[in-house]
Amino acid sequence: MDKVKHDMELRPNPRTGRYRLISANWKMNLNHLEAIQATQKLSFLLRPADYSYAEISIHPPFTDLRPLQLLIDSDRMRFSLGAQNCHFEPSGAFTGEISAPMLAKLNVSHVVVGHSERRQYFFETDEIVRAKVEAVFRSQMTPIICVGESLEEREQGQTEAKLRSQVESAVSFLAPELAERCVVAYEPIWAIGSGVSAKPDDAQHGAMTIRSVFESLWGREVAGKVRIQYGGSVNPTNAADFMHLEDIDGLLVGSAALDPESFARIIQA
Ligand code: 13P
Repeated sequence: MDKVKHDMELRPNPRTGRYRLISANWKMNLNHLEAIQATQKLSFLLRPADYSYAEISIHPPFTDLRPLQLLIDSDRMRFSLGAQNCHFEPSGAFTGEISAPMLAKLNVSHVVVGHSERRQYFFETDEIVRAKVEAVFRSQMTPIICVGESLEEREQGQTEAKLRSQVESAVSFLAPELAERCVVAYEPIWAIGSGVSAKPDDAQHGAMTIRSVFESLWGREVAGKVRIQYGGSVNPTNAADFMHLEDIDGLLVGSAALDPESFARIIQA
């Protein structure tokens, strides 16, 4: 199980033994001044019980990381700092890129890897995603590995096959001690930003499929420690439906996480 930053307060889910993780993926939104405001407001809205319920990670744009690191440290806020991406090489001639060691130096603990928007718009292949997972672990951070099927793949009954191949490709090379520390986000592409979330049954089935890949590679014990998030049009009204599912340990929230009030309501749901 991942060593979490606030383990004094954080309690595992008594049903599964796993720590819940609720993450805000801000995507390319909020400049560093807006980011400071939003984080202060979120901190004001949350109660101690919220931090015991779940670890909360905020994934702002790169330019917001340093200001948020300073804010979180100086005000002793109980948020984990996350990134949305990184390069797989530690340094070098890769103009415009940010490496995993650079993120680790800013106290970033979680890095989103292989988000469907990066796969789609920036041509990230399964091989690149795999290299990034390795890079994130090499810098002692936790990858949040995004997988999910397109609408077309869903309609053709290929959801399971797609999830299996994406997960296998991203993690199969890992030693079991690292495999169990993975976070996987099941984000059906058709549910992202569409306002149409997956049905709880579909989310559970996707999460179960993902966990079964870990089980076939490393056995039940490792699979039982992996944390799986659901993402795709999560809002304060549907959040609890997903958090109650057997194989879902958290949420990866996009647009509804930009507004501190709605993100706080998701955590409190
Ligand atoms: P939305 O919550 O805006 O659908 O985005 C989900 C997502 O892509 C999180 O990574």
